[in-house]
Amino acid sequence: MYPIIVPIFEEVHAIVAAQQGRALSQKLGFHLVDQTAVCTAILEIARNIVKYAGRGEMTMAPVTDNGLEIIARDTGPGIADISRAMENGFSTGNSLGLGLPGAKRLMSSFEIESQPGKGTHIVMRKYPRGY
Ligand SMILES: Nc1ncnc2c1ncn2[C@@H]1O[C@H](COP(=O)(O)OP(=O)(O)O)[C@@H](O)[C@H]1O
Ligand SMILES: [Mg+2]
Repeated sequence: MYPIIVPIFEEVHAIVAAQQGRALSQKLGFHLVDQTAVCTAILEIARNIVKYAGRGEMTMAPVTDNGLEIIARDTGPGIADISRAMENGFSTGNSLGLGLPGAKRLMSSFEIESQPGKGTHIVMRKYPRGY
């Protein structure tokens, strides 16, 4: 299975990325619950790229131990205070502020790096559980 790369610069690309993530997780044999978690996390991170960075890219690929890795990159304005941005309810965009903390909860691992003026880099992974 090859990595899937989705350029993100319009709202509809977030939906495309989320659908691609669902399809890949389905191919990997993820339970519907885990497929939906992956899909929702990708949607939130991709929508942030459109809203706050303008453009970026998401890459999805299988990793060892039946996992799925999602990498999101943009070269937008970055995040000044990552720990605040990871709090439930923090938003600079007058929205719910649940995207980043929600994606972290939905995935098995979540790492975010960001530098003001340089952009944002997120690596998140999902490992299916037994249901
Ligand atoms: N890719 C990004 N580039 C710059 N800032 C971002 C990015 N993603 C998130 N942020 C910042 O983190 C905050 C929290 O994001 P999130 O939890 O998704 O909530 P919301 O999108 O509702 O604001 C955003 O309000 C924004 O300030
Ligand atoms: Mg958001």
